[in-house]
Amino acid sequence: MGCEEEILIIRSYDGQSADRGRVEDLERRCEVGPSERVFLFTDTMGDPICRIRNSPLYKMLVAEVDNQLVGVIQGSIKVVTVHQAPKDRAKVGYVLGLRVAPSFRRRGIGCSLVRRLEEWFMINDVDYAYMATEKDNEASVKLFINKLGYTNFRVPAILVNPVKHYRSYQLPSNIQIARLKVDVAEFLYRKFMASTEFFPHDIDHVLKHKLSLGTWVAYYKDDDVSSTKFETNGSKSEITIPKSWAMLSVWNSGEVFKLRLGKAPLSCLIYTESSKVIDKIFPCLKLPSIPDFYEPFGFYFMYGVHREGTGTGKLVRALCQYVHNMAAAARDCKVIVTEIGGEDSLREEIPHWKLLSCPEDLWCIKALKKEARNSLHELTKTPPTTRPALFVDPREV
Ligand SMILES: CC(C)(COP(=O)(O)OP(=O)(O)OC[C@H]1O[C@@H](n2cnc3c(N)ncnc32)[C@H](O)[C@@H]1OP(=O)(O)O)[C@@H](O)C(=O)NCCC(=O)NCCS
Repeated sequence: MGCEEEILIIRSYDGQSADRGRVEDLERRCEVGPSERVFLFTDTMGDPICRIRNSPLYKMLVAEVDNQLVGVIQGSIKVVTVHQAPKDRAKVGYVLGLRVAPSFRRRGIGCSLVRRLEEWFMINDVDYAYMATEKDNEASVKLFINKLGYTNFRVPAILVNPVKHYRSYQLPSNIQIARLKVDVAEFLYRKFMASTEFFPHDIDHVLKHKLSLGTWVAYYKDDDVSSTKFETNGSKSEITIPKSWAMLSVWNSGEVFKLRLGKAPLSCLIYTESSKVIDKIFPCLKLPSIPDFYEPFGFYFMYGVHREGTGTGKLVRALCQYVHNMAAAARDCKVIVTEIGGEDSLREEIPHWKLLSCPEDLWCIKALKKEARNSLHELTKTPPTTRPALFVDPREV
């Protein structure tokens, strides 16, 4: 049965308990990720739509054959920075959560679900559709690139660091860390990160969201500062900005969905247990120990990591340690996750554990409008060394 010939019903997810249960069941049967290495899976805890619920506009579609729910897909829409000024905004549609029941695969259902979601994007005036997948997910890569005309776009890295609940980092005495008010954070993001690829134009909504735990800045205590004036909602303010500084924001993703370890090989389980004991006795060995990851657990997502000036590596590391200490005080938070551009040197500064991280999260993109096609050529051909940094929206994690 080919993609065009498939007889199936594709409709909107209705959110009722029957749909909810069937989608959760499908999700369990379609674990994504290579079986040969440790992998973290998402657990939506009874709310399959939780990963898109916080986006400005979203949709979930289900596919049915003979009254059986055999496929699902989700999508969200927002405005981001894609091009360089003067035409620096584009409406993008994010494709995620595509799953087809194992016994219904290779019948064109996955293909039909993506096409139907793209139709919804086009009705909503979307310029580009994009998606992210594990680089070695052959089915997904072939479906999107060979069959649906998507192009390799960026290869960011997902960095995962376990939280040690029994350890609190001592922050360097020459570094000051301060929490920013939302309007100051918004001003700094718009001033310094607005040209970053995929910077969300509704950054104020992201920062004000109840899941956003705050924005912190780090700077050297004896650094020179200069004053900058800014205006929000008609009122004028002034802030002092040091020569060198770093900032980041934290999103409480564990309130949206949980993670759990999947398919951990026996050697890994043994390593986990023994390394926990060794790490407690000899903390100076700094052994990466996996906390108890076999039950669903929460996590913090660090977003909008940015730095200006010199000597900022230490500032970024201090911020990460600060977030670690914050996470260690939250019982349910067992890892800190962030995602940065593949070429971003920040990777060296952000503590992470390689076994849990994904060094190459493949992003693919497709122009949905004629005018967007020429710009897409420019976007995909940018050499890695000149690519701008990437902003990964916490609402899409
Ligand atoms: C990826 C997935 C959704 C594909 O669904 P599907 O209904 O089987 O896909 P389709 O039948 O529409 O396949 C269309 C094309 O994709 C490619 N493709 C799909 N599965 C493939 C596989 N296992 N190996 C190689 N190519 C594959 C082929 O080009 C195929 O066309 P063809 O059958 O004419 O050769 C399904 O395998 C799945 O649910 N996997 C687990 C979850 C997952 O990885 N989701 C993607 C995360 S982004």
